Order: sequence, then structure tokens, then C-alpha cells
Amino acid sequence: MAEEVAFLVEPLEDCDPERIQDCIGRYIWIIITLPVTIWFMLTFRIHMPKCHLQQLYLPSLDLSNGTAAAATINPTLFFDLELENTMNDHSVRYSDINLTFYYGPNRNFTIANYRVPGFYQGKEKTAYRRDVVETHDLPWDDAIRKVSNGSTAVFRVDLVAKPTFRYWFWYSKRRWLRVGAKVEVDATGKKVKKEPIPLKSAAPHERRYGPGRMGFQVLSGFVISAVLLY
Ligand SMILES: *[C@@H]1O[C@H](CO)[C@@H](O)[C@H](O)[C@H]1NC(C)=O
Ligand SMILES: *[C@@H]1O[C@H](CO)[C@@H](O)[C@H](O)[C@H]1NC(C)=O
Ligand SMILES: *[C@@H]1O[C@H](CO)[C@@H](O)[C@H](O)[C@H]1NC(C)=O
Ligand SMILES: *[C@@H]1O[C@H](CO)[C@@H](O)[C@H](O)[C@H]1NC(C)=O
Repeated sequence: MAEEVAFLVEPLEDCDPERIQDCIGRYIWIIITLPVTIWFMLTFRIHMPKCHLQQLYLPSLDLSNGTAAAATINPTLFFDLELENTMNDHSVRYSDINLTFYYGPNRNFTIANYRVPGFYQGKEKTAYRRDVVETHDLPWDDAIRKVSNGSTAVFRVDLVAKPTFRYWFWYSKRRWLRVGAKVEVDATGKKVKKEPIPLKSAAPHERRYGPGRMGFQVLSGFVISAVLLY
């Protein structure tokens, strides 16, 4: 942004009083270009943060000591969530982020809810949120039976947030971020996949810009700018 502003303001420095009309023209050009640029950056140049589940651990499914500890169930889970702002020109302001944990791959068996308090995330910054959450109604017998014979227990993690994005001094409208993933847990109590699990968009109503639509919007943005400027 600094470069763009410098590029806009530079012509004003060598403003000759005898050619005041040129200078006024430049002011008008700036007054028109700046809002168009800002509008364009806040409307089309936003990429949603990337979310990864780094870890999911349920101590009661950890049978690595060789004991199915069914008598003393620890009804908690531990999660480690990574939120990455990949943009180098926008920062992100999150309001509360809602996490929902489900037993099974569907969303019909909630076992825990968690609220990550809102926070501000700078450009190209990565944030981690980790905590221990108490679960409710988890069918431990079923889960332990599954992991103890070498199979896996399946969980689902959903994330819902409505962040706003800052460009220079301006904020975009709030946009829905709805992502989730299926997570398989084995008898180590941890997720089977060693790599972080990407939370992907699953909500059917999320507004998405396909390549065609995005192309059209970029084009129309330029056309509007061109019409305004020349
Ligand atoms: C396994 O054993 C270790 C060391 O004794 C202990 O710290 C850990 O809590 C045990 N885990 C389970 C799931 O019982
Ligand atoms: C959730 O849905 C699946 C299939 O849609 C079904 O088999 C399962 O019994 C449901 N579970 C609950 C708790 O309703
Ligand atoms: C685990 O046990 C269930 C029944 O209890 C069975 O259907 C399943 O095939 C078993 N899986 C493995 C990997 O042994
Ligand atoms: C998170 O959950 C709370 C309580 O259910 C709700 O009021 C809030 O609107 C939710 N936030 C988002 C971003 O969905």
C-alpha cells in the first residue's frame, strides 16, 4: 500500500504554481483512484485464513499403556488449532470463533463446544489455539471398542467464525468462515494422520468465487476504474 500511495502522491511534489490546473487534475485523480483501489482491495482481494488441526488427543482412547481404562474415563479432549493469515496486505480481526466437536463423521452427535475469544492477526501471521475441553455424551464404550481392535474412532471438528479484514485503515464487511474436517483417532488417542489436517469449507451456503466469477469481477472492477479515470 505504501508504494501505491507514494506513486499517487509523488506527482504533487513538483507542482508548478503556473500549471495549477494540472495539479487540480491530479488531486481529482487521487480522490477518485484511492477509494476505487480501497474498494477493490476490500471486496475482491481477500483470502480466507487457512485453518489446520495440528492435533486432537483423547487421553481415554490412549491405550498405549496396554490398559483399556474404561473404569476411570477422563472425559476430555485436547486440540491444537492453527490459523494462518496468508495475505501480505490485509490483516484479520476475528470475533469469537466457535468450535464444535462431533462423534462420528456427521454433525448429528455433538460432544463438545468451544469458544475461541476474538483476536487480531497481522499480515502473514500464524496463530495457535490449544486447550483441553470437557466432552459430554461421548459413547466411550463404542469408541474404546473401535480403537482397541485396531480400527479407528471417527470425529468431526467444525469451525465457524465471521472475521473482518483490514486493508490500510479500512475494514471489509464481515465474512463467514465455515470449515471442518473428519478426524480419525486410533489407540494412541491421537489422530491417525501425522500431518496437520486442513479444515475445509463444507457449508453449502458459503459465497465462493469460482475462477469465472472472480475473473468477471476483476474485469468489471477495472472497467469501472477505467471509466471513472479517463
Ligand atoms: C501411561 O503411562 C504413563 C507413565 O506411567 C502415564 O503418565 C500416562 O498417564 C499413562 N497413560 C494412560 C492413558 O494411562
Ligand atoms: C447420525 O446419522 C447417521 C446417518 O445419517 C445415523 O446412522 C446415526 O444413527 C445418526 N446418529 C444419531 C446420534 O442420530
Ligand atoms: C472390530 O470389532 C468389530 C466388532 O466388535 C468388528 O466388526 C470389526 O471388524 C473389528 N475390526 C477389526 C479391524 O478387527
Ligand atoms: C458462536 O456461538 C454463539 C453461541 O451459540 C453465538 O451467539 C455466536 O453467534 C456464534 N458465532 C459465530 C461466528 O457463529
